[in-house]
Amino acid sequence: MSARVISGKEVAEEILSNDLRLRVEKLKGKNIVPKLVVILVGEMKASASYVAQKEKFAGKAGIESEVRRFEDTISEEEILDEINKINTDSSIHGVIVQLPLPKHISVTKVLNSIDPSKDVDGFTPSNVGKLFLGEDTLVSCTPKGIMSILKSADVNLTGMNVTVIGRSNIVGKPVSILCQQQNATVTMCHSKTRDLNAKLADADVIIVAAGVPKFINGDQIPNGAVVVDVGIHNIEGKLCGDVDFESASKKASAITPVPGGVGPMTVCALIENTIIAAERSS
Ligand code: GUN
Repeated sequence: MSARVISGKEVAEEILSNDLRLRVEKLKGKNIVPKLVVILVGEMKASASYVAQKEKFAGKAGIESEVRRFEDTISEEEILDEINKINTDSSIHGVIVQLPLPKHISVTKVLNSIDPSKDVDGFTPSNVGKLFLGEDTLVSCTPKGIMSILKSADVNLTGMNVTVIGRSNIVGKPVSILCQQQNATVTMCHSKTRDLNAKLADADVIIVAAGVPKFINGDQIPNGAVVVDVGIHNIEGKLCGDVDFESASKKASAITPVPGGVGPMTVCALIENTIIAAERSS
């Protein structure tokens, strides 16, 4: 079997053309231009590259974006002050703090200071709590992007076995909730899971967010499973995911590539969240 490769890049472009641009035009008709502010601390190459992708996609959608850059010596108070200014600026609809932050800054304190109505990363306790309760909220971007990718691939999760590898606040935990909301039976695996292969054996969908290059290979994937690879690693100048694409694509029925899979969908979800925040403000 050779898997269908699900292009997140193409799905994101479709959502942009068929949905996001139209919603932005509608807002502009009401004199509202959605605006996203990204707080970027330090000089991490990967963060700078992700932020550049966010700015580019924002431009394509016709929304405003501004990157506020700070040295990695910035104090926690200064970041909190900056967020406070953004919270009270009605021309800004969404704000994200690009992670990771330098060690002397508390991520929890910083994220908790964001006004939940502008929290387009969906990281604040209020938005995470609403997600948990199944209430309408700003859903964090990578899980939201994964759900869009599955929808675009016509995967109906009702009754399906979904195995999630990784229990992070950003991906594993929220995506497990979203899959349950769509009637899947979810198995959560992590670094202490015993006999991971047994947990994969009856999976219909496998979502891999382990943070380890090529952690999963084709031998561990049941025939016909749908594989979503959330990882991205630069190994000696070559990008790869948490899944060994070559062997996995021989077993899976559909698989997301790295790059060009989940990454563009995360960016697309962020811009959609900014549009949602602007729509709610109108
Ligand atoms: N760093 C890695 N992924 C993310 C993300 O989804 N949002 C933010 N703000 N930082 C990240």
